[in-house]
Amino acid sequence: MTTHAALLLLPGDGIGIETIAEVERLIAFFNAKSNAIKFDVERDLVGGSAYDAHGVAITDAAMAKAAKADAVIFGAVGGPKWDKVPYEHRPEAGLLRLRKDLDLFANLRPAICYPALADASSLKRELVEGLDIMIVRELTGGVYFGEPKEIVTLEDGSKRAVDTQLYTSREIDRIARVAFDLARKRGNKVHSAEKRNVMKTGILWNQVVTDVHRSYAPDVALEHILADNCAMQLIRNPKQFDVIVTDNLFGDVLSDEAAMMTGSLGMLPSASLGAPDAKTGRRKALYEPVHGSAPDIAGKGLANPIATIASFAMALRYSFDLIKEAELVEKAIARVLDQGLRTGDIMQAGMKNVGTSEMGAAIEGELRALAA
Ligand code: IPM
Ligand code: MG
Repeated sequence: MTTHAALLLLPGDGIGIETIAEVERLIAFFNAKSNAIKFDVERDLVGGSAYDAHGVAITDAAMAKAAKADAVIFGAVGGPKWDKVPYEHRPEAGLLRLRKDLDLFANLRPAICYPALADASSLKRELVEGLDIMIVRELTGGVYFGEPKEIVTLEDGSKRAVDTQLYTSREIDRIARVAFDLARKRGNKVHSAEKRNVMKTGILWNQVVTDVHRSYAPDVALEHILADNCAMQLIRNPKQFDVIVTDNLFGDVLSDEAAMMTGSLGMLPSASLGAPDAKTGRRKALYEPVHGSAPDIAGKGLANPIATIASFAMALRYSFDLIKEAELVEKAIARVLDQGLRTGDIMQAGMKNVGTSEMGAAIEGELRALAA
């Protein structure tokens, strides 16, 4: 029996459009293979392209499609073209609405160093070779969404800006469980990063993670680390980490740092997951590359599609339980890198510089060979 899976593709802006096109290649490949699953694909606009067409960063109709889909594959949003649009309609608002309205609270950001790329890292090979970290970033709370969030003009004409860092114990509890669950399938170690030395949210974060550890995951090793120290330790000795669980803003920063250690921001995927549905057990999910829309190279066929393709592999694994297929895609990526194919962002001497679609086609070719 064939199961139908609804995929919503939201390419967005800039290189998102080019990298999602390479994912479509793989979807077509899996659909053509007599597989247990068939992907029914819809597309819609998000970000600046949605603003140009509809005056908003994402329409209600697109939100409804996203809520209905089994998984959303997202490209990237933003670019200088939309620098002047009203704040509530800026391209990023589309992504933030998806995260918030679908309650995608758990953002999984793996930082894996492909052996072939160890020399492309800004750190020494021995520090990053074999690196495999999972950053679990809380995605629907904290300073991104806390109210008040405003700029007010004071009586003397000067201004005051406020963002609010806000966490409930419930929000911390549920993200901590995700981190412990993941650690059990990996290196069985969690670092919880916060700033309890200056922030009340840090104190609560620390307490709740400690409680969840005691009652839910005493078998997993837990260490608390201050977020600034975590940033430093990532550069000093990244392989000491297995799973890092942290809040929305620290997670944003630490995941960029971890991503770059693997050679390029163009390599890393992410998954944003909701809570399992009480009836079906299925989680709402959005998969996106960690990188942005890279306006400087957009439309030129130069972008690295690997992060977006690897995001699709995460969808296969986390939304559809297609573990074997996910591994095949990841293996195909590793093989193409072993063969010396490189987009500009990961180019090294002696390697072959290829464009976006050449890279996508090569990965598809390897996938075909591996699946044969
Ligand atoms: C990310 C991005 C987003 C964020 C932006 C585009 C709003 O940097 O996904 O890491 O800050 O969360
Ligand atoms: Mg970011």
